[in-house]
Amino acid sequence: MDAAARIEAELHAAIDRAGGADCPPRLAEALAYAVFPGGARVRPQLLIAVAGACGDPSPELTDAAGAALELLHCASLVHDDLPAFDDAAKRRGKPSVHAVFGEPLAILTGDALIVLAFETVARAGARTPAPLPALVSLIAGSVGAPGGIAAGQAWESEPKVRVSSYHRAKTGALFVGATMAGAIVAGQDPRRWRRLGEKIGEAYQVADDLLDAAGLGDDAGKGLGRDAQLGRPNCVSELGVPGAIERLKGLVGQAVDAIPDVPGSEALREIVCAQAHRLVPKNLVVAAE
Ligand code: IPE
Ligand code: IPE
Ligand code: MG
Ligand code: MG
Repeated sequence: MDAAARIEAELHAAIDRAGGADCPPRLAEALAYAVFPGGARVRPQLLIAVAGACGDPSPELTDAAGAALELLHCASLVHDDLPAFDDAAKRRGKPSVHAVFGEPLAILTGDALIVLAFETVARAGARTPAPLPALVSLIAGSVGAPGGIAAGQAWESEPKVRVSSYHRAKTGALFVGATMAGAIVAGQDPRRWRRLGEKIGEAYQVADDLLDAAGLGDDAGKGLGRDAQLGRPNCVSELGVPGAIERLKGLVGQAVDAIPDVPGSEALREIVCAQAHRLVPKNLVVAAE
């Protein structure tokens, strides 16, 4: 099975568990709606790629960790789209979860996805328990406080936003979670993989800002220009479009340079470059070299 198929299979198994048996039917429907069809699944792809570069000795745990990151990401999007946050009507080209199911179920869907992520890792860890403490702590740190997604979103409620902390927590933390978790499930030292995650996370945020502010390329399926409407910091308003593109190129180069020397590092380099090309709005070409 290729990485994409592994991710979808693991996500389906998790959502079937959560939405099964006694689950209220509309919650079950909302859980599946929030996760399928997916977006790029870039975080689990990255996790699986890093684990693969390290030999991927425990694929079951790798898949569970990848699915957990994607479930947490989907939860963050459901909550992010709520009227209390970005009040977004669209996500992934269709009406957002609260637009279809209402706010109470959208809040509960996000909550249930967060819990399901940890349950998914715990189940897989029953067979391979050794990496679990490090893995669970890492994943929790990527989505909680002080430096994970919850903290990142909380910067929007501060009178003064530290943009670098905001981006690092809101977007970067889950990419760092992906690279470091990929190492942990493979029994490797995760610290060597932090910088790769940081650089990809920064690049990703710049690409998302470009997409949003400049409206380059196709509609991303979630509406454009929201950062300006909501007064959110955006690197295109800081650097301009050419400046943001230069920054993106630089970050991709730094990400490639940050790949540790392991037997599968050449294959990983190719995956990072391919993802980098996909990141950029279609009418811009960024060379990863
Ligand atoms: C969107 O993430 C939110 C950001 C942190 C920029 P993605 O661009 O990965 O969204 P999907 O999963 O592909 O829809
Ligand atoms: C949302 O950030 C990403 C989360 C961590 C929840 P944004 O609000 O910038 O992303 P989009 O544009 O809605 O995907
Ligand atoms: Mg937001
Ligand atoms: Mg948003």
